[in-house]
Amino acid sequence: EIAKDKNGVDQVLLRSLRGASVRVSLHGGQVLSWKTDHGEELLFISSKATFKPPTAVRGGIPICFPQFGNRGSLEQHGFARNKMWVIDDNPPPLHPNDSNGKTYIDLLLKSSDDDLKIWPHGFEFRLRVALAFDGSLTLTSRIRNVNCKPFSFSIAYHTYFSVSDISEVRVEGLETLDYLDNLCNRERFTEQGDALTFESEVDRVYLSSSDVIAVFDHEKKRTFLIKKEGLPDVVVWNPWEKKSKAIADLGDEEYKHMLCVDGAAIEKPITLKPGEEWTGRLELSVTPTS
Ligand code: BG6
Repeated sequence: EIAKDKNGVDQVLLRSLRGASVRVSLHGGQVLSWKTDHGEELLFISSKATFKPPTAVRGGIPICFPQFGNRGSLEQHGFARNKMWVIDDNPPPLHPNDSNGKTYIDLLLKSSDDDLKIWPHGFEFRLRVALAFDGSLTLTSRIRNVNCKPFSFSIAYHTYFSVSDISEVRVEGLETLDYLDNLCNRERFTEQGDALTFESEVDRVYLSSSDVIAVFDHEKKRTFLIKKEGLPDVVVWNPWEKKSKAIADLGDEEYKHMLCVDGAAIEKPITLKPGEEWTGRLELSVTPTS
């Protein structure tokens, strides 16, 4: 199902047989909504978000590519989230082992002449957004070097989870890992043995994590499971009170209801030789917790 938003941008709606849904915009290839079978929204979108390209929407799952943050000469988080992607009308089929009740769409981004001026590397980025029968959401990125020279990139699925109260949220799976703290000049620290909880601004890149991270929301009694492949790092971001006030498209109190936990490849950029392709996959699911 394809519909235009009020700025004329195409959005694709995928629905599972049980009623879960995902909405993805061609602007940025950004997932803007992910709902359970009961119609409950799982992703945060700011009430102050602007939906006017080229600015990425504050919320959902913007894709940071080919740069994360300001670690390079490109615009913050790279250009992919600001670009118009196209639908591949004839996508390759799902792998037979992976096709069980899945509905999907493939979006493509190729380097434009303008991109080549600022990042002179020919690439093709295929983003597959797949919704399974059980409502889990899989984002698979295939990035190919169509150039005659190698290039390197970073990537993050900047996932804004909707949470009831950030003070009641716990993240498991990052214990004892090293992280780079963006609030301390990317200095390297080591996480303690406890689950991560939140009482002030957090802006970190956890390094080489295991492939499953859990976000527990006590008040909502639900747990997000993040499974990832090819994405060693995990960004954890909450702007908290002061930073929120400085972000124009985020309400002053909205930090309480969001938490970004991104599957990412940042510390060690990925290098592709000519003709080579890289695949990274993120699978998000939600389960009730008692
Ligand atoms: C995070 C970065 O991932 O994204 C933060 O680590 C940044 O430093 C945040 O503030 C939001 O970025 P943006 O460009 O979407 O406002």
